[in-house]
Formats: sequence, C-alpha cells, structure tokens
Amino acid sequence: MQPIVANDLTIGYGKKTIASGINFVLEKNDLIVIIGPNGAGKTTLIKTILGIIPPLSGYVEVLGCPAKHVCPHRKRIGYVPQIGRVPKDFPATLLDVVLSGLYPHKERFSKIGKEEKLLAMRAISEMGLSKKINEQFGKLSGGQQKRGLVARALIGHPDALFFDEPTSGVDVAAASDFRKKIIELKEKEGIPILIVTHDVNPYIPYLTKILVIGRGKVRVGGIELLRDIEFLKSVYGESIKVLEIEGKFYLLSGDFHDV
Ligand SMILES: Nc1ncnc2c1ncn2[C@@H]1O[C@H](COP(=O)(O)OP(=O)(O)O)[C@@H](O)[C@H]1O
Ligand SMILES: [Mg+2]
Repeated sequence: MQPIVANDLTIGYGKKTIASGINFVLEKNDLIVIIGPNGAGKTTLIKTILGIIPPLSGYVEVLGCPAKHVCPHRKRIGYVPQIGRVPKDFPATLLDVVLSGLYPHKERFSKIGKEEKLLAMRAISEMGLSKKINEQFGKLSGGQQKRGLVARALIGHPDALFFDEPTSGVDVAAASDFRKKIIELKEKEGIPILIVTHDVNPYIPYLTKILVIGRGKVRVGGIELLRDIEFLKSVYGESIKVLEIEGKFYLLSGDFHDV
C-alpha cells in the first residue's frame, strides 16, 4: 500500500483553481521535495493531501483509504506546518505542545497518563530537547520550536511525515542540523517524507523525486527537472536562471525568497 496517491488532483479555494492535473505517488522509500515560487500552491497542496481543505476535483488516497477528505487514516501522517515564531507568552510548555500530537488519536478530553508522558519524553529526547521539556514553548529559539513540532508529529508514530519549509527562519547552523535530522528520519527510521523547501541542494543525495509547482503547472520527476529551463520559466517566470555547479542547483529569480 502506498502512503499517498494523488490522482488528477485540482487544488484551490472555492472557484479559485491554484493548480490542476496533479498526479504523484509517495512511496514507502520516498523523500519528495516540493519546490515552486511563493504563492504557487505548495502549502495548499500539502493541506489538500492532509484533508485540511478539500480538493476541487480528483482525489487523494492516504494509506489505501479512498478518496474522501474526512478519511481517518490522515491522522497517520505527521505534519510540521509552516508557522512563524510562537509568541513568548504562548501558554504551553514544550511537553504540552508535544502531547497535543496525541490528541487526534485519543478520545476527546480523555486523560493524559504516565504512558503518554513517557512517549512525549522519548519524542522530545529524539529531537535533542530533553533539557527544555518544561520550558515555555514560546521561549524556545526558532530552531528549537521547529524541533518541538517534529517531536509533536513523531509522538503519534506517523506512517509519513510532511514538512512545510522546515528551515525557514532558522539560523544556518541549526538549519543544517535540522535537515540532517529530517534525512535521518527517512534513512534510519524508514519514514517516507514530503518536504516543501526553497533549497533543494541539501536533499539532492537523498531525494527520490522532485515536484515542481507554479503558475497552475505541476511536474514530478527526478533532478533532471531542474535542467529543463523552458519548463522552469513557465513555472517561475522568464527571469529565472538556473546555475548548476558541482551537482548543486541555484535557482536565481526575483520571484521568490531563498530558504
Ligand atoms: N484560505 C485561502 N483562501 C483563498 N486563497 C488562499 C488561501 N490560502 C492561500 N490562498 C492563495 O492560494 C495561493 C497559494 O498559496 P500557498 O499554497 O500558501 O502558496 P505557497 O505555499 O506555494 O507559497 C496564493 O495565491 C494564496 O494567496
Ligand atoms: Mg507555503
């Protein structure tokens, strides 16, 4: 069974179509990187797969569960959303935030017991944050908050993990550590991963597919997509330039922000 099958999917809001003709499969051994300019529909695509918003047409199968956006299997996907810094006075500790990752799997208002706390401590330790467990979530650094959100996703033992711009707003050293961790989750834990990013380079040795989205167009393929300049122009605009230096790709355009 494939974790995700997207079939002739059209994504958008109400009458506004953002992109259509989206077909791809996230297989068990996949690390898929999604790239595209700002406003292209990357977050919309992730939210559609997760069932947070319905597709305009077509369907997404999650872990073999057919079609409907209410499919309960979607709880089996861990999601690290694209959020800014949480305010300093946000009234929850790291432990509270991580435990909230269990709520979709529990009866509403049922008690959190010792076992759940142990699970949370394990997920927090996995992300290297054991010393911060009782700290106010808002007082953690940007990178630590993102790690905390990964711990929150991991506590439910996800069958796949989605990351939406995980390293944006994180300082260079922390971002590099964080990417290593993401890659480890795929390589060591065997969790299939889908990740939205503006910097594909760190993932090149590990990625299995690239999905490029922009201006209503979507294509899925290997690294060769980044050599198809005509296609990239149709997605990013005429001003896009791509440099390939020692196996790394640099997309140069005024149309999007880096990382
Ligand atoms: N809730 C919404 N209702 C209507 N339009 C939206 C909504 N959220 C995002 N959009 C629009 O959808 C387009 C794609 O947004 P998004 O998926 O966030 O892009 P990306 O993640 O690639 O930057 C943008 O034009 C954005 O303004
Ligand atoms: Mg986005």
